[in-house]
Amino acid sequence: MGDPATLGTARAPLADGMIRVEIKEKRFGRLPVLSHVAFEVAPAETVAITGPSGIGKSTLLRIVAGIDKEFAGRVDTPARIAMVFQEPTLLPWRSARENLTLVHPGLTRAEADAALARVGLAEKAGDFPGQLSLGQQRRLALARAFAGRPELLILDEPFVSLDPETAETMIALTEALIKEARPATLFVTHSETEARRLATRILSLRGSPATLAPHAVPIKGVNP
Ligand SMILES: Nc1ncnc2c1ncn2[C@@H]1O[C@H](COP(=O)(O)OP(=O)(O)OP(=O)(O)O)[C@@H](O)[C@H]1O
Ligand SMILES: [Mg+2]
Repeated sequence: MGDPATLGTARAPLADGMIRVEIKEKRFGRLPVLSHVAFEVAPAETVAITGPSGIGKSTLLRIVAGIDKEFAGRVDTPARIAMVFQEPTLLPWRSARENLTLVHPGLTRAEADAALARVGLAEKAGDFPGQLSLGQQRRLALARAFAGRPELLILDEPFVSLDPETAETMIALTEALIKEARPATLFVTHSETEARRLATRILSLRGSPATLAPHAVPIKGVNP
């Protein structure tokens, strides 16, 4: 497997582009974390996942991303998946630009610079991740995810631990990038406001082992 930012290439492309998740059970050793969790995400649809800490949200995302294959059930996703992790997983001894070009070998230097400029990091192309603020690292992770032109974008709490102003900038940026690239998007958040702003539906994990709350909360009704 290559870098965690680009995953899922081993999977066959789907005829209709629908993402179908049907998990029967996921356990870590003797600890059952997820029981029946089934949902679909349509192409270009954005779905939020909420639930208390430790319930299994990151576990679910890792299964959908294809990183964790140790579960009972079935997941059908498109081939091009990008995941932005809870903590930015950047290459520490590579520049911001190289964090894009090494992960996406087809990306030219000019394209990488354009992707950095798009997230407001034009001046930071030569800097190492350690020289960037947390908000800037998050934006770099976002640029890296979108540079792979994902059909499915998975975001694990991308706006957490940022001050309100930086969080707002990140949300607006993510919203704009999603509108431009139109991937199917699955994201975890603790914030009802974020969920309502970005998603068309909210899926709520409940219980131990976790399942989805009976009814997904529709937000904007019909998919865009
Ligand atoms: N690699 C692992 N090995 C063993 N147990 C694990 C592993 N990863 C997660 N768990 C357990 O699975 C449960 C769900 O963890 P997970 O990280 O999915 O929660 P979460 O909903 O993402 O929480 P948070 O909101 O705090 O990020 C927890 O009880 C956790 O301890
Ligand atoms: Mg988590």
